[in-house]
Amino acid sequence: MNTTLDSATFMRIRDYVHCHAGILIGAEKSSMVVSRLWRRLELLGLPTFEQYLALVTSPEGAAERVHMLDQLTTNETYFFREPAHFNRLQQQILPSLPRRPLRVWCGAASTGEEPYSLAMVLQDTLGNQPWELVATDLSTKVLQQARRGIYRLERLEQMPPAYLKRYCRRGVEKYEGTLMIDAELRRKVEFREHNLLQPLEDRGGGFDVIFLRNVLIYFDQPTKQRVLDHVVAQLRPGGWLVTGHCDSLIGIRLPLQQIIPSVFVSAPAQHQPQKRPA
Ligand SMILES: C[S@@+](CC[C@H](N)C(=O)[O-])C[C@H]1O[C@@H](n2cnc3c(N)ncnc32)[C@H](O)[C@@H]1O
Repeated sequence: MNTTLDSATFMRIRDYVHCHAGILIGAEKSSMVVSRLWRRLELLGLPTFEQYLALVTSPEGAAERVHMLDQLTTNETYFFREPAHFNRLQQQILPSLPRRPLRVWCGAASTGEEPYSLAMVLQDTLGNQPWELVATDLSTKVLQQARRGIYRLERLEQMPPAYLKRYCRRGVEKYEGTLMIDAELRRKVEFREHNLLQPLEDRGGGFDVIFLRNVLIYFDQPTKQRVLDHVVAQLRPGGWLVTGHCDSLIGIRLPLQQIIPSVFVSAPAQHQPQKRPA
């Protein structure tokens, strides 16, 4: 097997990933692409990256396209990452919303730590008020892990101890050294495959809160705009959008009010004055 990646094939892989996932791979990342993909070539018995690319771009390559994007996406995440957002959710965002069933969308949910952190706050804050949480990602591999809801104990540093006690179960026997998200909470999170470059297909009537964190950073300016246009279209009036602290939105048109640099709110519904009976 020849694991060298010539620059023309590398450029075509970069273009392909940019076009299908919106993700920018830096021009200096050729060795990262080799290290993440060579196992796929080995598994498929393909001797060169050129042949691999030919498969991925052919009509027969649909399944392999998913594997390739799985390998090339960066899935770094942890529980209660950027904890100020979870405090704000609890103290400002949820109290501002009407007391009806709430809908929350976690885009780019990765292996599940972020949506389960959200689920803990929702369950803890809303009491008996019903809520729904949709968590999406492009990568089928991370979604599989997320649905299992099993994590190594060392992933839990940021989790508030009260939530750890209330919503997590310590693994025993073959699950020793792991923690499992409580089954009832797990059932309340719906994981779906979704590419942010496309509009979300959803019949639930929009979302009150959307967390879209640490993914915009991988997109160029036009892709960011396209993704955010799709996302904002899903916000209910008075709904909130939370982005990552490193996701720069400079130069992006966003029809929302900015509360702090990573937290935005949409205009409340216009109430029509009631017509008096004639
Ligand atoms: C760095 S992780 C961020 C996870 C989490 N939001 C957080 O803040 O911890 C980025 C995630 O974005 C996903 N992703 C990348 N491009 C995407 C796309 N076009 N559509 C949907 N998800 C995408 C990746 O699969 C990955 O799981």
